Amino acid sequence: MSDRVSSASLRGIEIIAGLIHYPGFLDRPAQERLRDALREAVRAAPLFTPRMPRTGKPFTVRMTNCGPLGWVSDEAGYRYQPTHPVTGAPWPPIPKIALAAWAELAPEAPPPEACLVNFYDGSARMGLHQDRDEEEFSAPVLSLSLGDSCLFRVGGAKRSDKTRSFDLNSGDALILGGPARLAFHGVDRIRGGSSTLLEGGGRINLTLRRVTLDPRRA
Ligand code: SIN
Ligand code: MN
Repeated sequence: MSDRVSSASLRGIEIIAGLIHYPGFLDRPAQERLRDALREAVRAAPLFTPRMPRTGKPFTVRMTNCGPLGWVSDEAGYRYQPTHPVTGAPWPPIPKIALAAWAELAPEAPPPEACLVNFYDGSARMGLHQDRDEEEFSAPVLSLSLGDSCLFRVGGAKRSDKTRSFDLNSGDALILGGPARLAFHGVDRIRGGSSTLLEGGGRINLTLRRVTLDPRRA
């Protein structure tokens, strides 16, 4: 099976400096292959409901991870760890298609170590936040979307910065790099029924991150 991820030419739209949107980066067959790989990953590492630090309030998204490190959140705080918080097992490997997307869209960066998989049902959302639990900020964050569309919001490096919103659709890739690496971002709404990719609906988002310092720079 081919690891080619995109049949389209690489046409990215720079929405703000460092934030590049690649609509339809994964074609439908690639989306289906990634969906199927994730189904297998979820069998090994079931979705769990993360909780807010301190308060323990549950997130509305469910999550799992692939890769040597996974991002988790509970009363003890946000962190990366090599094992699933419920089963204690190591995370399954990052799907090949996602690694190929990283190689294509982040060719300068060291390999990703974490692939956070968020599952949104029709009423889930994600508040504005920064991805800043990593040691390495020179590598971008790569996001891949599958299933129902969402209304995505992005601002600047300060929470009070002006934000703008746009849709992320199934197959879209998004790079948060350079000056946008620490941009606040979140998901305001899922557009239920907008995709046929996932049986039962909903949206999956993958974010690939480099967590530890690039050994070439350390
Ligand atoms: C995230 O920031 O972890 C997810 C973003 C998204 O769902 O598009
Ligand atoms: Mn994020």
